Amino acid sequence: MESYKIVLPEADLPAAWYNIQPDLPRPLPPYLHPATGRPVTPEDLAAIFPPELIRQEMSQEREIPIPEAVREIYRLWRPTPLRRAVRLEQALSTPARIYYKDESVSPAGSHKPNTSVPQAYYNRIAGIQRLATETGAGQWGSALALACNFFGLECTVYMVKVSYQQKPYRRSLMQIWGAEVLASPTERTQAGRRILAETPDTPGSLGIAISEAVEDAATHEDTNYSLGSVLNHVMLHQTVIGLETKKQLALAGETPDVLIGCVGGGSNFAGLVFPFVPDKLKGQNLRLVAVEPTACPTLTRGAYAYDFGDTVGLTPLMLMHTLGHGFVPPGIHAGGLRYHGDSPLVCLLVHEKVIEARAYPQTPVFEAARFFARCEGVVPAPETAHAVKAAIDEAIRCREENRPEVIVFNFSGHGFLDLAAYDAFLAGRLEDVEFPEAELRRSLADLPKVPRAD
Ligand SMILES: Cc1ncc(COP(=O)(O)O)c(C=O)c1O
Repeated sequence: MESYKIVLPEADLPAAWYNIQPDLPRPLPPYLHPATGRPVTPEDLAAIFPPELIRQEMSQEREIPIPEAVREIYRLWRPTPLRRAVRLEQALSTPARIYYKDESVSPAGSHKPNTSVPQAYYNRIAGIQRLATETGAGQWGSALALACNFFGLECTVYMVKVSYQQKPYRRSLMQIWGAEVLASPTERTQAGRRILAETPDTPGSLGIAISEAVEDAATHEDTNYSLGSVLNHVMLHQTVIGLETKKQLALAGETPDVLIGCVGGGSNFAGLVFPFVPDKLKGQNLRLVAVEPTACPTLTRGAYAYDFGDTVGLTPLMLMHTLGHGFVPPGIHAGGLRYHGDSPLVCLLVHEKVIEARAYPQTPVFEAARFFARCEGVVPAPETAHAVKAAIDEAIRCREENRPEVIVFNFSGHGFLDLAAYDAFLAGRLEDVEFPEAELRRSLADLPKVPRAD
């Protein structure tokens, strides 16, 4: 009899996160200070991050223990199930075996609490009272609101304006957990006021919201900043996903051929694949596939260059694939994938050809999501649907090549609070947007002038 889900006992919850930094094919180039261009020091980051997260950001230790207070909260929903998509396989008549790691079972409905919980914890023990953050789709904001609630911290969320309008129920969720939610750009920060003066009807962007949250944290002693993706410590916390998946695949007697995740800033993808990267570097035949929207094609069409993480230029410069920090992506429905940059760790591995990247327009992505929902029941978040589409395409390739490969993808979140986007799809109102080449060139012309190390 086929197993439909592989579950681990709570005792198998990982005791340590996996830090990929010592195993990279070459060292990660340092972040650079936005004003001096010199490598960032821990002291530079201390205005907005607590000491332990700064240490983790730069750590070369392969294993970093997960504090008991964090594991205790993880246990509310972890270990998450690894599900076999038997009915999807049958519908596709594929010889492939398709598995998905179900991160949608967290209270916030996505993988994001894997990092919001430790971030809130480390800030709490450092004596911080309030966290400021940005959110795109609202998934990250709700995950941080949840974590702040558990550790008795206040939470201010700058929510990208277009998502604030499209996703009112994500806002309700954040408010239930006690957060203050603002439509970004706001009049509350200098960065927001500047952008509103220039473009009063801007839909907002993650880059703008990050500028606002960083400024809020930097100008208030009791407040720190919290980022839901991109940074090394976020990738680190998400590795619980891949560590559990490894154990679950071993229990099922499977060795993966293809691992797939969607990429906004890179965290759910990294969380699934990083623990498998050493196997690939040692020669295992394993493909790692990162999926993004054609409307925000950071990995597939961006430059690999130093750039700011935000729009205004307050954050350190990071070597990453970027569409330029001034890039404001069209208001596609996968709000969590609308970011101009990506995790420097993920980008380094794309640049070194350890990870491959591909992009899809949103209509075929929603078609794949509907097909998946009709087979498996669960409705994926629009971001997750990008991974679903790639998994289906890989399974079809396996059918054409008659190869019984093992395909594993990260089911990063459910779409119950994204039904407005599904309504637009069902009504035929989705537009497939490509990012125009001329606009990309214009945006990249504004990259800060920093010589690249490689
Ligand atoms: C469900 C879901 N998946 C994926 C993402 C993309 O983020 P990341 O690339 O950091 O996993 C988001 C971001 O909001 C999300 O909400």
